[in-house]
Amino acid sequence: MRSPEIVEFELTTACNYSCIHCYCNAGKRSISELTTDEAKKVIKDLYDAGVKIIDFIGGEPLIRKDIFELIAYGKKLGITMMINTNASLASKEVVSRLKDVDPELLVGVSLDGHVKEIHEFVRGSGTFEKTMKGLENFLAQEFNVTILHVINRINYKYFEEMVKFAKKLNVNLYVDRFVPVGRGELYKDILIPDKEMIKYVNKVIEKYKDTVNFIVEENISGGECTAGRKHASILVDGTVVPCGHFRYDREYYMGNIKEKSFEEIWNSFNPEKLFIQCNNCELFNKCHGGCRAFAHKLGLSYDPIFCEVK
Ligand SMILES: C[S@@+](CC[C@H](N)C(=O)[O-])C[C@H]1O[C@@H](n2cnc3c(N)ncnc32)[C@H](O)[C@@H]1O
Ligand code: SF4
Ligand code: SF4
Repeated sequence: MRSPEIVEFELTTACNYSCIHCYCNAGKRSISELTTDEAKKVIKDLYDAGVKIIDFIGGEPLIRKDIFELIAYGKKLGITMMINTNASLASKEVVSRLKDVDPELLVGVSLDGHVKEIHEFVRGSGTFEKTMKGLENFLAQEFNVTILHVINRINYKYFEEMVKFAKKLNVNLYVDRFVPVGRGELYKDILIPDKEMIKYVNKVIEKYKDTVNFIVEENISGGECTAGRKHASILVDGTVVPCGHFRYDREYYMGNIKEKSFEEIWNSFNPEKLFIQCNNCELFNKCHGGCRAFAHKLGLSYDPIFCEVK
């Protein structure tokens, strides 16, 4: 049986931020949000399918009152638990409760710029200070922290400063690329980075790779897309998709966790489906097909950042 390395689990679409790039258009709580018992059932189901890492995402996962209970449940099963957060609700008290339930919890804090102006361009006024306070609270409790940084058309210029900032804080740096989905689609003209910008980001990564612990998404590195091969995302209503960026594309839905087991859903999906447009292209081994969600969202058969033909 093949299992994904990591599954993202969207616990809520409720959020106290309103970031312009947000692929899930977060804000309001969905009426389809799973209850505590339903969410626990999903965690157990993922465990039974051999999933090693569960990443709680949202919306803002710290909004859920049962977040501690859900993390504790996964931890008890022996799963490596992870959370992606804007950190604004990560008060000293919340962080210390998280430490109590899972001292090894992997914490991803979203930061879209190393200074207020760049971060708040995407995340809105007053968000930089709140996020930084939360991040400091996580560091004070010695959590393993990763800054989640999404490259866009504006912040790419300051990427070297962002890297130095992560280095100073001694945290890992996850580098991802903006994909025009959800609310982000409305702002695509001002947010989509071009080929030269991504080349620049990769140059900076190369320069600092021995001193900073980077985790580089394949939509930046140009590696082969792992959607439906090494990871999957469970949306707020239980729908399973190969990557969260396919959330509005029914043709890529893998199934619903309320109806079938994760193992059944995962094993019946053929990830080759995402690469149909690249079939028979002799340059595939060079370009690897780029970001399949990006190509799809732009109505293209190729990702212009990596495609070697166009
Ligand atoms: C949807 S958020 C949920 C967790 C939490 N609210 C946060 O902001 O970290 C998860 C991650 O997706 C990123 N993200 C949101 N919209 C995106 C988009 N259109 N393209 C790429 N990444 C995006 C966010 O910046 C964040 O790092
Ligand atoms: S990216 Fe995260 S913080 Fe921003 S609106 Fe979306 S869910 Fe909320
Ligand atoms: S579709 Fe794009 S963002 Fe999603 S896993 Fe593939 S390369 Fe990464």
